[in-house]
Amino acid sequence: MTKNKLNDLDPKTWLKFQKSWFIHNPPKRKKDTLVHPAKYPETLAQEFIEFFTKAGETVLDPMAGIGSTLIAALRAGRSSYGIELNPKYAEIAKQLIEEERAVLGQRVESLKSEIVNIDAAKALELQPLTVDYMLTSPPYWDMLHARGAGNQKKRRDTEELDVVYSEDPHDLGNIHDYEAFLEKLVKIYAGLKPLLRDKAYLTIIVKNVKKGGKIYPLAWDLARELGKTYTLKDEKIWCLPPGQNIWTQAGLKPIENVETGDKVLTHLATLENVTKTMRRHYSGRLVTIKPSLLGRSISLTPEHEILTISRKKMFHKNGKKFYENFNRSEKRGSEWKPAKELTVGDVVALPIPKSTIDLVELDVRTYMPEVTQWLQDENWYYTHGRGKQGRGKLPKTITINKDFLRFAGWYLSEGSGTVSGVYIANKSSDVQKEIVTLFRSIFDVNAAIDSKGVWCRSRSVANFLIRVFGKGAKQKRIPDFILHLPKEKQNHLIQSLWAGDGHVRQNQVQYKTISEELALGIFYITARIGAIPYIQRNPKWFGLNYRGQSMIKMQELLEAAPMKKGFLRDQHWARDELIWLPIREIWSSHYDGTVYNLEVEKANSYVTEGFIVHNCQDNQSIAPFGLGSAWVSNTFHHYCLQFRKDE
Ligand SMILES: C[S@@+](CC[C@H](N)C(=O)[O-])C[C@H]1O[C@@H](n2cnc3c(N)ncnc32)[C@H](O)[C@@H]1O
Repeated sequence: MTKNKLNDLDPKTWLKFQKSWFIHNPPKRKKDTLVHPAKYPETLAQEFIEFFTKAGETVLDPMAGIGSTLIAALRAGRSSYGIELNPKYAEIAKQLIEEERAVLGQRVESLKSEIVNIDAAKALELQPLTVDYMLTSPPYWDMLHARGAGNQKKRRDTEELDVVYSEDPHDLGNIHDYEAFLEKLVKIYAGLKPLLRDKAYLTIIVKNVKKGGKIYPLAWDLARELGKTYTLKDEKIWCLPPGQNIWTQAGLKPIENVETGDKVLTHLATLENVTKTMRRHYSGRLVTIKPSLLGRSISLTPEHEILTISRKKMFHKNGKKFYENFNRSEKRGSEWKPAKELTVGDVVALPIPKSTIDLVELDVRTYMPEVTQWLQDENWYYTHGRGKQGRGKLPKTITINKDFLRFAGWYLSEGSGTVSGVYIANKSSDVQKEIVTLFRSIFDVNAAIDSKGVWCRSRSVANFLIRVFGKGAKQKRIPDFILHLPKEKQNHLIQSLWAGDGHVRQNQVQYKTISEELALGIFYITARIGAIPYIQRNPKWFGLNYRGQSMIKMQELLEAAPMKKGFLRDQHWARDELIWLPIREIWSSHYDGTVYNLEVEKANSYVTEGFIVHNCQDNQSIAPFGLGSAWVSNTFHHYCLQFRKDE
């Protein structure tokens, strides 16, 4: 077996640390450590130290705060040095280290842990010291001076807790010009190089910050600038694997096909621009979550945050489990939580899409670019061809009005396009007459009625309909320009769609189709009126079943007789712009491959086929490390940048 030069870990623990994400749930912070506004957990520091050093080696934290790195080093059996500018923190650090030594006793007697109260810019005074690893976290620029962050507000109200580190001008947290701050920080870290032995690592825990509505990419700037002095070896991030569908302006799209500039649905129920797409290799566990209603499960890395409301689990006297009433859970509020922390019964959300994009006229060239090669006059394109049958035509623009949307509903539920024309199968003579009239008003073509439906023998119309609504019954879809039309327009489509192939009874509203894309399109447009179906996934077809309040909304829309009382139980809860769905199942599996993530303007979220997730961009205001909360607090993403001294 080759000798492991880096640490004392067994291969299994080594592998565990190698992942590109991690969860760290530290114990609650002790009260006397709360004085410092941005301490990281010793338990986290210990994991890093044990990965990057061996027992007996030496660690340095050049901005030691109240000494978490040094305490972790003691627990890991390593010697350590800490530099801290603020005498008050240096003193607290010394005291905490002494207490820790007393607890750990004899086994740490031979280890050094020394706090030096100087400016880190003067660290070379410590020479001839060399260390085997540096672990640190700098002030996140002057963000502690920013008003408004939740934790900061709490701190201001509590006299004995510090809001900022110090008033010292050498304190990096007091430099208000970002570039000047960055320059000084980089200079300090680069200047530490002589203290680090060759091939040793430096880990910096840092985050990007948002100030005055602007993102300052501190983590990325630091990675780039320090990459000139050390080799940047790694960073950690969270993501979705490929094949996971995302709701975009053009309907559902696999995440790997989403591009910068696409618009995606967000937790604000609006469509927002994707400003960046990210991909990386990932090997590790994936969490798969299956919410109720949709019959779909979504996989993501354990650290990826999901918008959720957690629900307490209770037990009946007979031992049977049940979940607390949703209204009560809701009072605690929603939060972003890493996928890994969700449990069955918690609820996740889908937005009720509210962005409206009204298209008044459709340019036929959007779907049939070849028409520009045809003959044309002011309003029409004509195909070449001989005789009446051979010659076809299409209008240059189609008005997206009631006629077109009713026609779309009939075509989607009962139509088919072939090389010889379009057939819409419906035996009702009223419907047949309406369809003939619609062919005439939209396309100015004749259509003939037979015993089972309506024939239109225009190849160009057939071709156009296939392009817009998909080829063959299995590929039928609602085109993107219809997905976001005003609801009143969409209602016309839903009405003829249901009249064609849907079921409305007193206690059932259902639509069955063999096309998944069509089913999901209907799901999307009916969601806009707050009617959320349960999706039944049969091997041969998809069923959309509306129950409870959703059924009533559909019955109103379809002008059907209202249901009888007693069937009102919903499987979800609609609140403002969100629909909350309980999680039915959660499982995890191993994955080795590419994972993707998006950065989304304004909302910083996007919507998978099952629920809303947070995007990767972390632009919340500061609250470094939270107050005794989980290490990866719910809305902030901290980067762990790993550098190595290579030359
Ligand atoms: C994010 S905190 C570090 C917290 C520490 N990791 C802990 O868990 O206790 C950054 C620290 O850098 C210190 N600091 C700021 N400017 C400094 C400088 N020029 N030299 C040394 N320390 C400095 C601040 O006083 C603050 O305690």
